[in-house]
Amino acid sequence: MGAALFGFSKLYGEVPGAQAELLRVPQAQFMPIKVPQGPPDERFLFLSDVLPTAWQSVQYAATPEGGTLLVLGLGPIGDMACRIALHQGLRVIGVDRVPERLARVSGRGAEVIDLSAVDDVGEEVRSLTQGRGADAVIDAVGMEAHGSPVAEMGQKLFNVLPKRLSAAIMDKAGLDRMSAIYTAIDAVRRGGTVSLIGVYGGQSDPMPMLTMFDKQLQFRMGQANIKRWVDDIMPLLVDDADPLGTEQFATHQVSLADAPAAYENFQKKQDGTIKVVFKP
Ligand SMILES: NC(=O)c1ccc[n+]([C@@H]2O[C@H](COP(=O)([O-])OP(=O)(O)OC[C@H]3O[C@@H](n4cnc5c(N)ncnc54)[C@H](O)[C@@H]3O)[C@@H](O)[C@H]2O)c1
Repeated sequence: MGAALFGFSKLYGEVPGAQAELLRVPQAQFMPIKVPQGPPDERFLFLSDVLPTAWQSVQYAATPEGGTLLVLGLGPIGDMACRIALHQGLRVIGVDRVPERLARVSGRGAEVIDLSAVDDVGEEVRSLTQGRGADAVIDAVGMEAHGSPVAEMGQKLFNVLPKRLSAAIMDKAGLDRMSAIYTAIDAVRRGGTVSLIGVYGGQSDPMPMLTMFDKQLQFRMGQANIKRWVDDIMPLLVDDADPLGTEQFATHQVSLADAPAAYENFQKKQDGTIKVVFKP
C-alpha cells in the first residue's frame, strides 16, 4: 500500500492506533498544516479528516452544473459532503435512517430520504428526478451498511477472530456489506458517476457487472488525499460567514475523562452523537 493509516493493522502499514497517550508519527514532517491566526480552532480541526475526505468525494462525483447529487450515509463524512455540494449550488438528496442526521442535513437545504421509511431508494430517487436517477452518487457508508443480514453475521464473526486471521479474511474473502454500493449503482443515472468514499476492504465482492457496464458507469474511489485538497478548502474556512458550518459541526465537546461514554454514544448513535471533540 502507498499509505500507512493509524490503526488499520497489516492492511495499511502496520502502525498502531493513534488514540493513545503516546504516539510515534512516521513521516511527521509531512503532516502539519499551517493555518492563519484569527478564526477559532474549530474551523480548522476537521482539515485533518472530515473536510478533505468529503471534499474529495464531491470532486470525484463530478456532478454536472445544475445536476443532482445523491449522498448515501449522513455520518460526518456524508453530512460534510452535502454541505460542500450545497455550497457549490448542486441539488442534494441525502439518505440515512438516523433521524437527527437526516434533520441536520435537511436543515442546511438538502432533500432527504429516510431509509427506514421507503422500500426502494432507487425508485424514490427516480421519482424525484423525472425517472432519470441522480447524476452522481456518493457512497459515504462503506462496509458498515445496514441491509445485508448475511454479511452482518460475517462481520460479527470477523470481530471475534484473532487479528491475524481477521486481517487475512478482510483482505481476501471480502466480508463487505454491499447494500450501499448496490443502491448507488441502481440510483445513479445512465452514464453517471459513483464516488466511493466509504471504505471497502475485500478483494472478491460480487458486483453487478452487467448493470454497471450497461449503464456506462464511472467509479471513482480511494483513501482521502488530505493534503491535495487543503488549499482548495482553506478559503471557505477563513470566510467570516463559515459557509460549511465548521464551527458548529461537532455535536459534542467533552473531556478525556468522559471519552468512554462518548465512544459508546457514538457507536450506538445515541444522544445525537455525530462528531465528538475531546478537550484534554
Ligand atoms: N476514504 C477515506 O479516506 C475515508 C476517510 C474517513 C472516513 N471514511 C469512511 O467513510 C465512511 C463514512 O464515515 P462516517 O464517519 O461518516 O461514518 P458513520 O458510520 O458515522 O456514517 C455512516 C452512516 O451511514 C448510514 N447508513 C448505513 N447503511 C446505510 C445505507 N444502506 N444507506 C444509507 N445510509 C446508510 C448510517 O446510519 C450512518 O449514519 C466510513 O466507511 C469511513 O470508514 C473514508
